[in-house]
Amino acid sequence: MHSMAPQSRDGRPRALSGAQPSADSYHLGNYFGAFKQWVTLQEEFDAFYFIPDLHAITVEYDPALLRERTYVAAAQMIAAGVDPGRSALFVQSHVPEHAQLAWVLGSITGFGEASRMTQFKDKSVKGGQDSSSVGLFTYPILMAADILIYQADKVPVGEDQRQHIELTRNLAQRFNHRFGETFTVPEPHIVKSAAKIYDLQDPTAKMSGSSQSHAGVVDLTDTPQQVAKKFRSAVTDSGTEISFDPQGKPGISNLLTIYSALTDRPIADIVTEFQGQQYGHLKVAIADLTADFVGAFGDRTRQLLDDRSELDRILADGAARAREVAVPTLELVYERSGFVTP
Ligand code: TRP
Repeated sequence: MHSMAPQSRDGRPRALSGAQPSADSYHLGNYFGAFKQWVTLQEEFDAFYFIPDLHAITVEYDPALLRERTYVAAAQMIAAGVDPGRSALFVQSHVPEHAQLAWVLGSITGFGEASRMTQFKDKSVKGGQDSSSVGLFTYPILMAADILIYQADKVPVGEDQRQHIELTRNLAQRFNHRFGETFTVPEPHIVKSAAKIYDLQDPTAKMSGSSQSHAGVVDLTDTPQQVAKKFRSAVTDSGTEISFDPQGKPGISNLLTIYSALTDRPIADIVTEFQGQQYGHLKVAIADLTADFVGAFGDRTRQLLDDRSELDRILADGAARAREVAVPTLELVYERSGFVTP
């Protein structure tokens, strides 16, 4: 009989996160909002990072595109600094225990509880709830399984995922209460200081891969020329003074935020540097800086994508390490659930 949930091998707490491969490339907002935190966390945490391809099929999609996007996603995570030698980097569908646990968790989730998830309401407005898939509806339950199968302590996510983490915590506590201590109850890790990057064409909307037009979205696969063009045509604000004022000057403030994130310098420093200069000066400076950054990022990504068998090997190794934790967790869950041992 298992007595305890499997813990991390070396006593470090565990971190886990995923980022949907729902566009042809991740963008600058994903990099500063998520991947930079992932990279920092792998120092202190036993980290698990994955590509949620099972989540990606809950909306209409193209199978060939999904396969390509999954490779690009893996390559970009590595290019961003996720170290597969240290962290387990894997594809969700390579670890069948996610889907198996999701079924068990779905059976202790209330229909009303699931109906209150706001992301489903947001994502289903387009086609209407009747034509949305049941998979999209149960998406948060699969996400809870992603987290609980690894006994994760910390889950770095954006503010938009807070409600899903809250559901995950409730399901963990409910299962533990009904069937005995089984799951670690995870904490969200929402970094307040993480740079929030907005769309260059609409600086009141988050930079998003699902935006209709990519004119305001800096993709990590853009060429330096594309990057420069996007910044040149970035929307700025009325007035002429360069100052940080997200309410009154969302466009300029967004540019300052990106500049600060790229250089690791405080925003106030940058405002001082550009004192008395025009919006155009800031645009040119940031266009150059970002073009260099994205250019180098693209080179690393392409190099990784050129060797698919090496990527396959990295992902297979990641999945094997993930299953070392996922398999015993599922065994414990099945035993607690009253299933006869096969
Ligand atoms: N839902 C997350 C997003 O859209 C992606 C995701 C899936 C995830 N499973 C997860 C994030 C588990 C953290 C942990 O951003």
